[in-house]
Amino acid sequence: MNDELQKKVAEAIRDPKNVGEMADADSVGTVGNSECGEMLRLWVKYREQDGEKIIDKASFQSFGCETAIAVASLATELIQGKTADEAMEMKPEELSGELGPLPPMKIHCAELVQGALRDALSPESQALGQAKPNGLAPTLRDSINEGQAKSGSINIQFLDE
Ligand code: FES
Repeated sequence: MNDELQKKVAEAIRDPKNVGEMADADSVGTVGNSECGEMLRLWVKYREQDGEKIIDKASFQSFGCETAIAVASLATELIQGKTADEAMEMKPEELSGELGPLPPMKIHCAELVQGALRDALSPESQALGQAKPNGLAPTLRDSINEGQAKSGSINIQFLDE
């Protein structure tokens, strides 16, 4: 990672935005990267505006590297005001926002965020909302502690490398 990118990542994670569980979220998505072991969960809350359902706010929790945290922080800001379809179409380089282009070895960090976002925005997740029948643990850490990820009782999408 070059110095400039390292500096931007450090700035973004010094005060990451939208960290934590969102109690009143409408949908939630979780992904894991089987290669590096990072995991990310993202919550989304919608609101109506001019007859359209748009993203009001989003938050995340991550057992990810600094780059994934920085991208998630920026992405949760960038998707506000977009429809689910618009946010779904955002590419990893768009979600990285002001970090700019990521080096090849760090692109999967942004893809992790994109994966969690797409999982949260999927019609299935929106339909399930907070009432996911399998009952999500309150936090990503709780999920792991309870062994839910292992038992398959929550829907974790593992990204293809
Ligand atoms: Fe795997 Fe960043 S190193 S998500």
